[in-house]
Amino acid sequence: MRMINYKIIPSHMRNFNSGSIWPVVAQAHNPARNQSQAHCRLIALALGLVGFGLQADEFNDKDVERWQREFMSVVEDGQALWGSPDLGTNGVACGQCHPNAANTHPETYPKFQKQLGRVIAFREMINWCLMNPLEGEVLELDDPRMIALEAYATYERRGIPLEPGKH
Ligand code: HEC
Repeated sequence: MRMINYKIIPSHMRNFNSGSIWPVVAQAHNPARNQSQAHCRLIALALGLVGFGLQADEFNDKDVERWQREFMSVVEDGQALWGSPDLGTNGVACGQCHPNAANTHPETYPKFQKQLGRVIAFREMINWCLMNPLEGEVLELDDPRMIALEAYATYERRGIPLEPGKH
């Protein structure tokens, strides 16, 4: 017979008889009880987020300066890659068809792209151009070079309202 360690069963689940596991399972599947537990969890999560929000606000001008500097150095890496033929195999660079990231529209992603037949992230379209016009290899989506290309294109389009899904 299966043994149940009574002490580790929460009090609201302890009203079973004769050591059978089934009443415990029935209790656990009680929708009303599960709903109220879900509410409790949501409230706890919300409180946690408020706490985190307060903490996350604590930064000073020096922090901002450093974050900005680090961001811009990645943008500069992206700009260099954008003009470089090294990403592909046929001597072509992104900037030849997209000078200053023209016609890349990062603000419209995620969106449906017919080349891939589904809703995709901006990075996946970068990979599409890497494979097709540049005849190169795709980059891992978290490759620092991918992040740099994305940083450069989105930086060039800063201030433009987000319009996900737009064509
Ligand atoms: C030979 C020209 C050419 C080169 C080089 C090229 N692209 Fe493209 N790119 C295109 C064309 C054409 C499209 C339009 C495809 C479509 O939306 O049907 C496009 C589309 C895109 C899009 C999507 C634009 C949108 O409106 O959704 C992104 C992002 C993009 N390219 C990034 C890049 C990046 C990054 C590189 C370099 C790795 C690159 N492209 C190189 C021709 C090029």
